[in-house]
Amino acid sequence: MAKYKIAWLPGDGVGVDVMDAARLVLDKLNLDADYIHGDIGWEFWKAEGDPLPERTIKVLKSTDVCLFGAITSKPKDAAQKELVPSLQNKGLDYFSPIVKLRQLFNLRTNMRPCKSFAGNPLNYKDNIDLVIFRENTEGLYAGIEYHPLPQKVFDVFNETHPKMKKFKDVPLNEIALSTRIMTKTGCTNICRAAFEYAAKYNYKTVTLVEKPNVLRETGGLMTQCARAVAKEFAGIELWETNIDAMCMWLVKNPEQYGVLVAENMFGDIISDLAAQLVGGLGFASSGNIGDHYAVFEPTHGSAPKYAGQNKVNPIATLLTAKLMLDYLGEKEKANRLEAAIALVIKEGKVRTYDMGGSHTTSQMAEAVALKL
Ligand code: IPM
Ligand code: MG
Repeated sequence: MAKYKIAWLPGDGVGVDVMDAARLVLDKLNLDADYIHGDIGWEFWKAEGDPLPERTIKVLKSTDVCLFGAITSKPKDAAQKELVPSLQNKGLDYFSPIVKLRQLFNLRTNMRPCKSFAGNPLNYKDNIDLVIFRENTEGLYAGIEYHPLPQKVFDVFNETHPKMKKFKDVPLNEIALSTRIMTKTGCTNICRAAFEYAAKYNYKTVTLVEKPNVLRETGGLMTQCARAVAKEFAGIELWETNIDAMCMWLVKNPEQYGVLVAENMFGDIISDLAAQLVGGLGFASSGNIGDHYAVFEPTHGSAPKYAGQNKVNPIATLLTAKLMLDYLGEKEKANRLEAAIALVIKEGKVRTYDMGGSHTTSQMAEAVALKL
């Protein structure tokens, strides 16, 4: 029996191409693993009305870890139209399978490194080394939203909060409402994960990205929790910034930051910004990590226009495989993989289209495999 069982979820579009690339490299590393395919994505939504079928959840439950490619998602109405006719208007609603997986397996930490590799022509600056810790199961993504607003919910708000009066004359079907739910445990956990990582890898600062001057209660709770956790880590400074200002600072002097920590939505936003600083989504890896399971995925989407063309940059997925190896405790393989990626980028002989070259997805993977 192999040492590891890895759930293998290519998903949609270029997800398939980049996962093939990852497999080539993992095989070259001789990782002792069985790979178990799982169905996920748009195809299964259209045919079965479920982008994350129960059988796939079973696959995940029977494995040590999951590597996931990418999925296509579309707004509510478009999703409904693409369902097979026999399933249309049966009350099925499209949901994001990755957001569901994060909830289902309580993958509460989303970790997203953004590092500029020497020689990458896309680097915004050459000395960026950011790692984002995004809370992954709470906040706006906890998903409690209304439209129309139920009378009961309006009444509760109105009885308990003076600011609801402003909306008392608006028809309920003209009000949509989202809730940002954050808990002390959720905030503390993500801040602790960020500080522990900073301590382990010698980062001098952890920057909290919030907006407590406006979101006084949720932002306030996160700030309190971050300050409390910071006290446990002498030698690591806690910096506090507002999300809007952070976007500006990240463009102005990203090299001055180390670990960033944020709630779910703010983490989502700054991770795309940070990814672009180090070459864009072709370089952005991520891990969704819980206490008992983890799902690793490149940050990019399924890029339908490039699907099946063997064209997109697989480096994001290769770096993601590196994070997975770290998680499995395969340090030596993880380090070798990162070093091989770094070397290929530095030499600059093999470049995919986003890097100004014309090499294919598989040529890039082969180049990395050769350096292993
Ligand atoms: C991400 C993505 C997802 C998110 C989408 C695909 C639901 O943007 O992983 O950052 O919003 O979390
Ligand atoms: Mg995102």
